[in-house]
Amino acid sequence: MSSSATPAGKKTVTVSLEGSNRSTNLPVFSGSIGPDVVDIRKLYGDLGVFTFDPGYGATASCESKITYIDGDAGVLLYRGYPIEQLAEKSDFIEVSYLLMYGELPTAEQLETFRKGVTYHTMVHEQLRRFFDGFRRDAHPMAVICGVVGALAAFYHDNLDINDPKQREIAAYRLIAKIPTIAAWAYKYSIGQPFMYPRNDLSYAENFLYMLNAVPAEPWKNNPILSRAMDRILVLHADHEQNASTSTVRLAGSTGANPFACVAAGIAALWGPAHGGANEAVLKMLAEIGTPENIPQFIREVKDKNSHTKLMGFGHRVYKNFDPRAKIMKETCHEVLAELGIKDEPLLDMAMELERIALSDEYFISRKLYPNVDFYSGIILKAMGIPTSMFTVLFAVARTVGWVSQWKEMIEDPSQRIGRPRQLYTGASQRDYLPVARRG
Ligand code: SDX
Repeated sequence: MSSSATPAGKKTVTVSLEGSNRSTNLPVFSGSIGPDVVDIRKLYGDLGVFTFDPGYGATASCESKITYIDGDAGVLLYRGYPIEQLAEKSDFIEVSYLLMYGELPTAEQLETFRKGVTYHTMVHEQLRRFFDGFRRDAHPMAVICGVVGALAAFYHDNLDINDPKQREIAAYRLIAKIPTIAAWAYKYSIGQPFMYPRNDLSYAENFLYMLNAVPAEPWKNNPILSRAMDRILVLHADHEQNASTSTVRLAGSTGANPFACVAAGIAALWGPAHGGANEAVLKMLAEIGTPENIPQFIREVKDKNSHTKLMGFGHRVYKNFDPRAKIMKETCHEVLAELGIKDEPLLDMAMELERIALSDEYFISRKLYPNVDFYSGIILKAMGIPTSMFTVLFAVARTVGWVSQWKEMIEDPSQRIGRPRQLYTGASQRDYLPVARRG
């Protein structure tokens, strides 16, 4: 444990194994805020037992200074700053600097970082050929997972993760190139020419430009939409030790290069229980069809045999409103108003679904509230982004979180390869039987 985590006074937890005369005192550590942790690293050596926590619901996998979540209070802090303040007052590049380096940048630091990212947005021209290997109807998450992993094939001279300079250049490259790769995956899927990044645009403007512009005519930025996009990127930038971030950390703990680690994070994010939920919410709303069908759908969700989930609801940590969902809902109204969309049936349906769910004992008793994915898809659809690109957008935003967490892990002197154990319930040792004697 590094010096930042302080022993909680002399608090310890004594663990005794019934039926044996063995016990051990495990130290308790306190963070700056949030629950204490029991250091179990000597448990197996002292008592010969493992802890058991499938899904890691009660396990702190690391020490981190980046993001703090209070699931009961619905609090989300990036380096101590509330997400509500950052969403309102900051922008994605400034938040990226904050996540990477731990402090809000001075004007000079911000300009240097912004330029550093801007001048890495282009990709190696040969990388274009990777797209041609995919079918046009390939899911863009499959495309970006492959192309991001392939970046390692272009930077052999920059893969020494123990060199701080090489770590930093890899971080810049990933943050800068992911929007270009994501936009090109979309352009490839619709058969339109790739748009090269422009250095005169902000990060969010550039992403929307590469997604929507065509060579045949000038592209006009809509400041309301690019501001909304920037805010959506801020809201998705990092989120403590979620499944994809834990995947990046585990891959990184083996010494794998950061491009391979982020590709692993993209793969993990794709699942509908995680980043794939925003796409699944739109499919769910379309399947429900009309508000009249909502009661029947809720009945299905409550029927265990149906395996139907209310996508965009529930969270392993938030047992209160996801603060990002609240901001997303406000942004939804702003974007629809800006686009002159008076009545968006999907939004009406989502709000009715939320109203009914939040008054239903099944959801109340399980503390199931809307999460970040519940409203995001409605905004993105209104902005003309296809459903298949929703999780790609999540990956564009979360890349800075993955890279920041990966960097923190590599720079942690106590870092070692992640290698969980198990509770084995398979066959005890037995001898091989020739096939003639089986059956
Ligand atoms: C993200 O970890 C992060 O921080 C992730 C994320 C990030 O920024 O990185 O916040 C992004 O992934 C948000 C979550 C997006 N996923 C969804 O919206 C998919 C729908 N949600 C569920 O799949 C679920 O809520 C999870 C996966 C998000 C959380 O699952 P948990 O913590 O394992 O909870 P659980 O499955 O143990 O659920 C507890 C109970 C169960 O019922 P009982 O067995 O007690 O009867 O609640 C039920 C579940 O069946 N339940 C739901 C439900 N979510 C949980 N029932 C209906 N609909 C749901 N959405």
